[in-house]
Amino acid sequence: MGRTILLLISIVLAAYYVHVPLPDNIEEPWRVVWEVTQVKIATDLASFAELLGISHFMDTVKLFMKLHEVPPTSDENVTVMETTFNSVPVRIYIPKRESAPLRRGLFYIHGGGWCLGSAALSMYDSLSRRTADRLDAVVVSTDYALAPKHHFPSQFEDVYSALRWFLQEDILKKYGVEPTRVGVSGDSAGGNLAAAVTQQLIQDPDVKIKLKVQVLVYPALQALDLNLPSFQENSHFPFLSRSLMVRLWSEYFTTDQALEKAMLVNQHVPMEHSHLFRFVNWSSLLPERYKKGYFYKSPTPGSSELAQQYPGFVDVKACPLLADDNILLHLPLTYIITCQYDVLRDDGLMYVTRLQNVGVHVTHHHIEDGFHGAFTFHDFKITYRMQNQYLSWLMKNL
Ligand SMILES: *[C@@H]1O[C@H](CO)[C@@H](O)[C@H](O)[C@H]1NC(C)=O
Ligand SMILES: *[C@@H]1O[C@H](CO)[C@@H](O)[C@H](O)[C@H]1NC(C)=O
Repeated sequence: MGRTILLLISIVLAAYYVHVPLPDNIEEPWRVVWEVTQVKIATDLASFAELLGISHFMDTVKLFMKLHEVPPTSDENVTVMETTFNSVPVRIYIPKRESAPLRRGLFYIHGGGWCLGSAALSMYDSLSRRTADRLDAVVVSTDYALAPKHHFPSQFEDVYSALRWFLQEDILKKYGVEPTRVGVSGDSAGGNLAAAVTQQLIQDPDVKIKLKVQVLVYPALQALDLNLPSFQENSHFPFLSRSLMVRLWSEYFTTDQALEKAMLVNQHVPMEHSHLFRFVNWSSLLPERYKKGYFYKSPTPGSSELAQQYPGFVDVKACPLLADDNILLHLPLTYIITCQYDVLRDDGLMYVTRLQNVGVHVTHHHIEDGFHGAFTFHDFKITYRMQNQYLSWLMKNL
C-alpha cells in the first residue's frame, strides 16, 4: 500500500516536472524540457524555502547556480585571468595567438535579472572564451553587485565604473586593445545594463574614448508597462515567466513586496509619471505583426508613494527606453537580438523602432524559434546559431 502511494506520487511528480507544453517550432524539444525541469525543481525548492522563511528565493537559486561556476583557467588559445577594475571584479580573456599589435575589445555584462549570475558561470566563461578566440578580441567579462543584497543603482554603478576604468588609454594599452574598436555587450539584465551604460557614456564628458558598438541580447529595457503583448503571450513560458520577470524587476529596486504586487497588476506608475508612457507605448512602437489581437491600454496609474520610495523604476538608468530622442541619436552602431517566445521581446522591438526613428544604425535579428536564455545554453543547436550570428556581426562591425 505504502509503496503504491509512493509510486503514484512519483508518477504525478514526474509528470508535473516533464509536462512542458512547447510550441512546435522549438528545436531539440526534449533537451529543452530537461533544462526546464531542472530550473523548475530549483525554483520550486527556492519558493518553498522562502515560504518556510528559511531563505530568500534568490539566495537559494544562487546556491544552485554556484554549482555551474568554473575557475579562471587558461587553455591553448586563450589566457584567462581575474582582476578588479575600480574595485569591481572582472574576468579577462586574451587570445594567445600572434596578431596585430592591437586587438578589438569587448566589455561583456552577464544576465540574471540583476539578482543572479556571474562571469564565472560556465555558460558565460565559454561564451567569452569563444568570443576572444573567434574575434581575436580581448574580452572583459564583468561582475557587479547583485540583489537582494544590493539594489539599484549599485548594479548600474558597478558596471559603469568598471567600464570607465577599461576605457582609459593606459589600461587599453596595457591589454593591447585598439581604442577605436571597443564595444559593449550583454544579455537579458546584462543587455539592460549595456544599454544603460552606453547611454550614460555618450553624456559623460570625462570619458574620451567612445564605444564603437553596443550589442543587446534580449534586453530588459523598461519597467513601466509589464503587460506588453509579449508579456501576455509568453506569460507562462518556461525559463522566464511574467511573474518571475516581475519579481526580478521589483527586486532590482527593493525587497519590499508592495512594489512586486503593484507591478503584477501593472499599477505601479503614478499619474505624475504618466507622461513617460509615450516611451513605452507599444501601440505606436511595435511593428504591426506583433500587435495582432491586442488592444492598447495604457497602465493604470498607481499610488505616488511607491515611486517616491523607489524612484529607480522610472529612472532612465534602469529603463533605457525612457531616454529622450536627443540622447538616443548619439548612440553607436547597435545590434539587437529578440526572441519570439520571450516576455522581453517587445522591449527589444520598441528600442529598435526608437533607434531607427532617430537614425541610429541598427541590425536587428529576430529569432522565430528563440526563447529567453537560448543564447547561453551549452551545446544547443539554437545557441550555436545565435552565437554564430552574433560573432559574425561583431567580426564585421567591431
Ligand atoms: C584552439 O584553437 C584550435 C584552432 O582553431 C581549435 O582546433 C581548438 O579546438 C581550440 N581549443 C580550444 C580549447 O578551444
Ligand atoms: C499610444 O499610441 C496610440 C497610437 O499612436 C495613441 O492613440 C495613444 O494616445 C498613445 N497613448 C499614450 C499613453 O501615449
